[in-house]
Amino acid sequence: MYKTHTCGELRASHAGQTVTLAGWVHNFRTFGGVVFLVLRDRFGITQIVTNPDKFPEAAKAVEGLKNEWVVQVTGPVRMRPADQFNPKMPTGEIELEAHEVTVLNPAKALPFVVSRDDEDIDENLRLKYRYLDLRRERMKRNLILRHEVVLFMRKYLSERGFIEVETPMLFKTTPEGARDYLVPSRVYPGQFYALPQSPQQLKQLLMVAGVERYFQIARCFRDEDSRGDRQPEFTQLDLEMSFVHRDDVLEMVEGLITAMLPEVAPHKKLLASPWPRLTYNESMERFGTDKPDLRFGMELYNVGAIFEKSEFVVFKSALESGGIIECLVAPGCAGYARKQLDNLTATSKELGAKGLVTLALTAEGPKGSGAKFIGETEIAALSKLTGAATGDLVLFVADSPKMVHKVLGALRIWFRDALKLTDPNVMGFAFVLDFPMFEWNEEFKKWDAAHHPFTMPRLEHLDRFETDPSTILSEAYDMVCNGYEMASGSIRIHRRDIQSKVFSLLGIEEEEAQFKFGHMLEAFEYGAPPHGGMAPGIDRLVMLLADEPNIREVIAFPKNQAARDVMADAPSYPDERQLKELHIVIRE
Ligand code: AMO
Ligand code: AMP
Repeated sequence: MYKTHTCGELRASHAGQTVTLAGWVHNFRTFGGVVFLVLRDRFGITQIVTNPDKFPEAAKAVEGLKNEWVVQVTGPVRMRPADQFNPKMPTGEIELEAHEVTVLNPAKALPFVVSRDDEDIDENLRLKYRYLDLRRERMKRNLILRHEVVLFMRKYLSERGFIEVETPMLFKTTPEGARDYLVPSRVYPGQFYALPQSPQQLKQLLMVAGVERYFQIARCFRDEDSRGDRQPEFTQLDLEMSFVHRDDVLEMVEGLITAMLPEVAPHKKLLASPWPRLTYNESMERFGTDKPDLRFGMELYNVGAIFEKSEFVVFKSALESGGIIECLVAPGCAGYARKQLDNLTATSKELGAKGLVTLALTAEGPKGSGAKFIGETEIAALSKLTGAATGDLVLFVADSPKMVHKVLGALRIWFRDALKLTDPNVMGFAFVLDFPMFEWNEEFKKWDAAHHPFTMPRLEHLDRFETDPSTILSEAYDMVCNGYEMASGSIRIHRRDIQSKVFSLLGIEEEEAQFKFGHMLEAFEYGAPPHGGMAPGIDRLVMLLADEPNIREVIAFPKNQAARDVMADAPSYPDERQLKELHIVIRE
């Protein structure tokens, strides 16, 4: 070994021992002719001092070092003088006197300073030199946290009878609603594998295979626009169980995360235990979204009844055309300036609203764009319903339920951040249940599966396939936390007749179903057990546990926001010979 100890290991008890450390030059300073150098490795940092009188050669060698050079240092561990203890460093009571110094590898001048957790480094520069970025304390912490999360998951599930099974990357299209990444086949001209959007079909086939309790730390691939919480490839804790009902799956996942938090992130506290459960409808009505942040109030109120007889044209026309009126109360915001209100209105319009009615309840009476149109009795009724009081700002949107929820749901989150209404150390885990089975796709005039086509519809709703598919609920569920969708899952269809019904409503003809999912349909005819599962997104979970603003910070080598790997510069052009072998001609 190049070292006898790590740079995080030495304590007062090692004083007097001669040791060898190896690592990177973290930083150094000179003080009264003596160089103080901090040496870093994965495990920590240790101060190295020189002794120019007794060990001039080593001292000279240290003087020649630069940041991030790889060096090996041998010498005795010494106690620091008591007034020089550094309580911020685990090794802060000792230092190493350099008697022998070997440069293992010098380094070029760096594109950014590794030793400072400087937040202002351009992200593309960080990603281009990700291997240097990962040397930084913050990134290292994230890598370790992620490892601990995954390790805990593997252990917890293994102890409960789950086995991890790897499933192929080269597979066939799996419908999770995004575009597939295709891989051309050299052997079969014109044919392509698809990278799995998730192991959905394979895990169901493992249930037919009798595995009963499966999990996998599974890489998924989806060609969709990147966002802060989305990457083209990401990782799920994919799991599936046989002979279970919905609550069995939910309890397994809730149990796992509840047990994991104190182990991997003890400073994080659950908002509530057991976790709250909301129906999809309740979530939409109260929070305007199916991924609510439950850590704060500011719920939405339907105020249609209060304005039933209102002559205010904005409200009246919305109600007449079958829309709804809802409001949100921003506490203590009655003093918002005209410009702030205009900005909120502009934000609402960007989201698709026709506008935003504002009502500021000031000590001098109501102000804002709605003040002229909203009377005293209406204000009294509003206050009674919502608790709005003097000093508060009430915001109204009148539109279709979909638009009202979208806009007020987004404004609610905007106020969360603007007013700092939440504690980042509180984890508001909850389950959202009873999703609709189908969504009407206005663009293509067809029904889409709200989750995926293997999700079990409510058995008592089977007769609505012919009458009113929009009211069919499914056995799908989500796990949410702090405004993010953390996991989705469902009880699956294990009966061929129900699967056919779903495919036919989705407009997937028998022939197409055979072509795309023939293997699944056939498998289900050989004794498929009732089964269901779920898939928490590991990147999003670690992002929240690490207090990071986006999932790129918790992925070792992520794509940038434009879906490029700027380190390797991918995607890139293959050479002509490769294309030819793959039977591919690039069309401009
Ligand atoms: P779903 O498509 O909802 O369900 O995905 C489950 C979870 O995976 C995470 N996730 C993502 N994370 C980062 N980047 C992305 N592009 C991305 N897309 C999804 C989210 C999400 O909640 N097979 C089903 C699960 C099942 O039914 O068991 C599925 O994949 O955290
Ligand atoms: P207008 O009648 O378009 O001048 O709008 C009057 C006020 O109502 C403005 O403050 C608009 O932003 C707002 N407004 C218009 N339409 C809506 C709507 N559908 N919901 C909420 N506010 C609206």
